[in-house]
Amino acid sequence: MITRKEFSRRRKQLMRMMGKNSIAIIPTATEQVRNRDVEFPFRADSDFYYLTGFREPDAVAVLIPKRPHGEYLLFCRERDPEMETWTGRRAGTLGAIDSHDADDAFPFSDIDEILPGLMESCDRVYYTMGSRPQFDQRVMEWINRLREGARTGMRTPDKFVSLEHLLHDMRLYKSRSEIRVMRTAAKVACSAHRRAMQACRAGMKEYEIEAELLHEFRRAGMVPAYTSIVGGGANGCVLHYTENSAPLNDGDLLLIDAGAEYDCYASDVTRTFPVNGRFSAVQKALYEVVLAAQTAAIKKVRPGNHWNDPHEAAVRVLTRGLLKLGILKGKLAELIRTDAYRRFYMHRTGHWLGMDVHDVGDYKVGNEWRVLEPGMVLTVEPGLYIPAGSRGVARKWWNTGIRIEDDVLVTKDEPEILSDAVPRTVAGIEALMTNATV
Ligand code: GLY
Ligand code: MN
Ligand code: MN
Repeated sequence: MITRKEFSRRRKQLMRMMGKNSIAIIPTATEQVRNRDVEFPFRADSDFYYLTGFREPDAVAVLIPKRPHGEYLLFCRERDPEMETWTGRRAGTLGAIDSHDADDAFPFSDIDEILPGLMESCDRVYYTMGSRPQFDQRVMEWINRLREGARTGMRTPDKFVSLEHLLHDMRLYKSRSEIRVMRTAAKVACSAHRRAMQACRAGMKEYEIEAELLHEFRRAGMVPAYTSIVGGGANGCVLHYTENSAPLNDGDLLLIDAGAEYDCYASDVTRTFPVNGRFSAVQKALYEVVLAAQTAAIKKVRPGNHWNDPHEAAVRVLTRGLLKLGILKGKLAELIRTDAYRRFYMHRTGHWLGMDVHDVGDYKVGNEWRVLEPGMVLTVEPGLYIPAGSRGVARKWWNTGIRIEDDVLVTKDEPEILSDAVPRTVAGIEALMTNATV
């Protein structure tokens, strides 16, 4: 878990970068209706949670560096015994101060009265515009109110600065405790994948395997970091397949992309394995190409290399493999130059990973790919997808979707694979599936 001390350190670091005469306004997410009287499980906004560790809805964090009466203010729901009987316990303003280290706290319902006054003496407002339209509107109303007051001598902030620029760069570099949390999330994802491999039998439905994944997540107190993808046979070629409703056929591959979220940190892991526990010669041939591509890509996850190096390594190995298997025809250099692989590999080799599955952080600095540095975490997830009807491709390859995805930490030297506890080699997968005890 992330400690209160670390949340406080993050706020201090952000405030140092913001400088004097500035204010940051960071609202959390809003509850979303699923259907009449039923809401989706609430998940705090990642930026908000990163700075506060506060899990309740209807909350706004305000940071005002060097403010004599307190730099960190939290607007939150008030205690209300009757409401709490229905919807759960609340920290209240006292809890915000005592348990969450706010210097001062106010009822969320008073925000319209209080916030303009806090903005008044600031020059710069740090705020993320565009991701919460209703809240944007409110911020604008506060500003307008101040502008009206300007005629009577009130000061108004004259600069809106994007908060993401500072905050997302902080989030890109994971601290020791963040890495610990991410290791734990990845470990539980691995247990889930192992359990799925061991439980899998021809004739089961994809959702039965999804249930095995959920079992491992929930027994560890975690939730899925995103909707699990459980796609047998042809469904493995649908990149974001989440219906998870088809029967699993003997002789097909099963692609599972599933990760656990722990304390708001994600893991993101994919394995592809044979439903019946044994790869056919055709499946094995293609699988080995993807695995070799992943190995080559992971090797490139080193400080000093560029963001795109793992992708380029994967593309080279994938293209060479497709050429060798006769799925692509031509000259290697030419096939790479013309992106011929894209027909069978239409996504990139990875993304930053953190509180969001597709985490924040720039991939380019200026016009250059970002240089990898220790503390960054990314996924490495090459794949090959050959749907039925692929023209010019022998039928034996059809309906094969393969992806292998791991979570990788950039360290001073060798990359650390956080999700190493589930096999990815043909021999490793077959051995685990033969000794199937759940
Ligand atoms: N699970 C989403 C992704 O692999 O990017
Ligand atoms: Mn991913
Ligand atoms: Mn994934």
